[in-house]
Amino acid sequence: MTAYIDNAGAWQASWDRQQEEYLPDREQRFAAMLDAVATVTDGRPPRLLDLAGGTGTISLRTLARWPDATATVLDQDPVLLTIARSTLRDRATVIAADLNDPAWTTSLPRGDYDAVLTATALHWLPEQRLTTLFEEILGVLRPGGVFINADQMPDDAIPELSKRLLAREDARREARQSAGTALSWQGWWDRVRETEAFRTQIAERDLIYPPGRTTHTEWLPPASWHVEALRAAGFTEAGTLWRGGVDAAVVGVR
Ligand SMILES: C[S@@+](CC[C@H](N)C(=O)[O-])C[C@H]1O[C@@H](n2cnc3c(N)ncnc32)[C@H](O)[C@@H]1O
Repeated sequence: MTAYIDNAGAWQASWDRQQEEYLPDREQRFAAMLDAVATVTDGRPPRLLDLAGGTGTISLRTLARWPDATATVLDQDPVLLTIARSTLRDRATVIAADLNDPAWTTSLPRGDYDAVLTATALHWLPEQRLTTLFEEILGVLRPGGVFINADQMPDDAIPELSKRLLAREDARREARQSAGTALSWQGWWDRVRETEAFRTQIAERDLIYPPGRTTHTEWLPPASWHVEALRAAGFTEAGTLWRGGVDAAVVGVR
């Protein structure tokens, strides 16, 4: 039986607030991603894959813009997927799958999606997996479809300035968090752990992301690496769609 939670909208809102602490221009990047999607569908509602989509943030924004869009959220986090399912209900398909396993595409149509969008997620995967993943993503896109990955991807032409930009953002956030005015990643997860409705999902999550172990790699290659990797995977066009400080959204066109 599908487990829904009652107050999914409130969890969704607090997730957004927490993420915005780390990514103040989060909504701008989503808007830039959806503007790019609009260019490949000629006004038709898009078929979207929200990859490592967590609570379904990108699907929700896509459906707000195109109510008849077809959205699929894919992630492996049982807590975030419960929030996604409870918020999206029958407006989207929600799939649990591990992107480290090449079988993640098996339940998806091939060559069908107009867009595969992902944000703040693929730095959780190791380099050797990421290059193969790009080829797998190409396989689920239709010709002319776009893959857009927004993440921390510094500009390698300004390495020292990038470090200073990052340090400034970290210092600002830490000041807000120690003043108690901001919700941190850890603080958000502590609240989830205190919530009875998530007890089963937390137990499942602890098997996937064991507590105390880091969830992501420290490997954050520049946008130029991503562009080259997309070209090598077979995307016909690849480049930087959006940039905000050390973050960027890189796009590949099938
Ligand atoms: C910081 S969250 C971002 C979620 C969402 N894209 C957003 O912007 O709100 C990173 C997401 O990547 C997912 N993720 C990381 N590694 C994954 C993997 N191997 N398979 C599936 N999802 C993964 C996590 O479960 C988490 O939901």
